[in-house]
Amino acid sequence: MAIRVNETGQEFHLYNDTTSYVFRVLEKSNQLEHLYYGKRIQHRHSFIHLKERESRPSSNMFEGDHTSSLEHIKQEYPSYGTTDFRYPAHMITNQIGSHITNFQFRHYEIRKGKPALEGLPATYVEDDSEAETLEITLVDDVLKSRLVLSYTIFTGRSVLTRNAKFINEGNEAFYLNNAMSANVDFPDDDFEMVHLNGAWAREAHVDWQPLFKGNQSVSSSRGASSHVHNPFLALKRPDATEHFGEVYGFSLVYSGNFLAQVEVDTYSVSRIMMGIHPFQFKWKLNPNEAFQTPECVMVYSETGLNGMSQTYHELYRNRLVRGYWRDKSRPILINNWEATYFQFNEEKVLNIVEAAKDLGIELFVLDDGWFGERHDDTSSLGDWFVNTHKLPNGIKGLSEKVEALGLQFGLWFEPEMVSKDTKLFEKYPEWVISTPNRRQSHGRNQFVLDFSRDEVVDYVFDMMDDIISTSKISYIKWDMNRYITEAYSTSLDVDQQGEVFHRYILGVYKLYERLIEKYPKILFESCAGGGARFDPGLLFYAPQTWASDDTDAIERLKIQYGTSMIYPLSSIGSHVSAVPNHQVGRMTPIDTRANVAYFGTFGYELDITKVSNEEKRAIKGQVAFFKEYRHLIRTGDFYRLLSPFNSNEVSWMVVSEDKKEAIVAYYKVLAKPNDKYYRLKLKGLDPEKLYQMKGMTTSHYGDELMNIGIILSRDYVNCVSENESHSHPHDYQSKIFVITEIS
Ligand code: DGJ
Repeated sequence: MAIRVNETGQEFHLYNDTTSYVFRVLEKSNQLEHLYYGKRIQHRHSFIHLKERESRPSSNMFEGDHTSSLEHIKQEYPSYGTTDFRYPAHMITNQIGSHITNFQFRHYEIRKGKPALEGLPATYVEDDSEAETLEITLVDDVLKSRLVLSYTIFTGRSVLTRNAKFINEGNEAFYLNNAMSANVDFPDDDFEMVHLNGAWAREAHVDWQPLFKGNQSVSSSRGASSHVHNPFLALKRPDATEHFGEVYGFSLVYSGNFLAQVEVDTYSVSRIMMGIHPFQFKWKLNPNEAFQTPECVMVYSETGLNGMSQTYHELYRNRLVRGYWRDKSRPILINNWEATYFQFNEEKVLNIVEAAKDLGIELFVLDDGWFGERHDDTSSLGDWFVNTHKLPNGIKGLSEKVEALGLQFGLWFEPEMVSKDTKLFEKYPEWVISTPNRRQSHGRNQFVLDFSRDEVVDYVFDMMDDIISTSKISYIKWDMNRYITEAYSTSLDVDQQGEVFHRYILGVYKLYERLIEKYPKILFESCAGGGARFDPGLLFYAPQTWASDDTDAIERLKIQYGTSMIYPLSSIGSHVSAVPNHQVGRMTPIDTRANVAYFGTFGYELDITKVSNEEKRAIKGQVAFFKEYRHLIRTGDFYRLLSPFNSNEVSWMVVSEDKKEAIVAYYKVLAKPNDKYYRLKLKGLDPEKLYQMKGMTTSHYGDELMNIGIILSRDYVNCVSENESHSHPHDYQSKIFVITEIS
């Protein structure tokens, strides 16, 4: 890994073993020209020959020069209005109401390692040898402002991270209307755009389209990264597949409103940018203040989408997730939500805990409904006082009893919300996000607390702290069940209302930071009505996220497949629930439900006191299986084999780093009569290693398993009757293969 600057100090080449990124300073204007991003290329003393200048009809910056149009120069961090008419990476309104900026290169600095981003989540290094950071300082003399563009290149990871920081060095405030985290001007448009699309209960469906000329984007303006799109975008070559070909991934480490946009111009230049959504954003930057953008993580892969995903998985697992739980196996939990919803009492909870203990489950999570008069979703959010009718011994007494029975105890909170019937609402009505003289829209009967105010964050911290400090709590599920409407904060001036959404998310991060600082051993699971905030920002605080409120195994094939585009299995909250399934009414076998849930953090969400003895035996076996293989599932390399988006068969597998062990899952959604022969080709094994599949006597070399595959048809040799089929086909079948190297 290296950052090389040529002798003029005006050309920069950042590279590691897999990827190169090149840009330079333009001679006359001192702005930055982008030259190359992609597969690693040889370093040379100059890359100036990569610049392209055609004489085209255009507006030009310099008199007598017809090739000084920024419209035709690929740029690093473009502005609008000085000869470039495309969407810019930044937009400022200055004291005279103008949007024109001119940030010019002033100097650069190369640092070992990677500096943290103040108040914001970001990837990190543990040792300075893991990365190098280039900081480019540009200055706009008229605006009296500094812009620092940071680029970090990692060693041994095909990753480049980017962020931008604006500093007001003048005497007057100005407004940031747009401040993207990263921009890349690719020289062509021969790409398909891959993104994750969804809604509540059907998050993270993989979608892709060829780029077209014009603007295409995914975004959120809902106050959360959202169920609808994920802050992620990949540009893949049309011939790239899961396992072959060139893919560029862009992922924003942020949990609020975002924009990921590609603008293809008439010359087929593709401008991709990612950052806080400029829509509804306007930040007042006072003299001597700085604005820091979130981080954009760019991944280059020449081994298809799966190669990109593996890079994100490894980076996010090891250098985004932090703290006590990062490198630890997570407890197998049982959550009472789908078992009881709001109707439970201490006795019911303890019955669940006792039954769970017998089956080897390790953690009980008490979900919504333990506080105030919360008997349905109309009441009590914000008054975090235990309901002593349901729980006469309080959370303290209950948590102690659960621990005495041998399970850890976890608790649900929805810290950002308030119901109207609470003491909190009565005392501080101005703490609700709402616009004066306008209707307060509700979502699930609840209102959003103004987390842009420090006093709100302090108050909620104290309330949570009261419960946590007096009880035995090992896990917290932090939920968030509605989007932000009528965004307005009475604590901010009229010209700062465009700051509400971003300040809100900074408030969420602040509360998380305070809680994990005080309780570093508590395992946090983030949740937002399922996966509305499954984003890299929250992984910095909560190592796992509840992926969806849809717990149906077949729906989960799509949700977990899509989520795995970016997020590691160790972060994907996944449970076995009851049938008929509560979201879609589907009846799936209990082994298939577990075979899907294994590929995540694994747990249960059903009334375990009501399951049959046969199912109990199955669950006991599943729990034992997961305990044996959870290390491999958490740390192994994940390969997607067959996609639920275009086939009746779905498959994925995890291979240990040393390639000695693998777990393969195969799911056949609908049964077919008198069906074709099936073979499942594996990935990621060592071709020369000899492997055995658990429960079978035959052995296979890795090359055989990867090139011929596992033969899935049965061997009914010597059967005496044509109809002698011992395995009756049925819908939603699945199978797990455990593969181990034999010496
Ligand atoms: C939405 C979550 O996603 C569910 O798992 C559950 O915690 C409910 N909220 C509780 O209200």
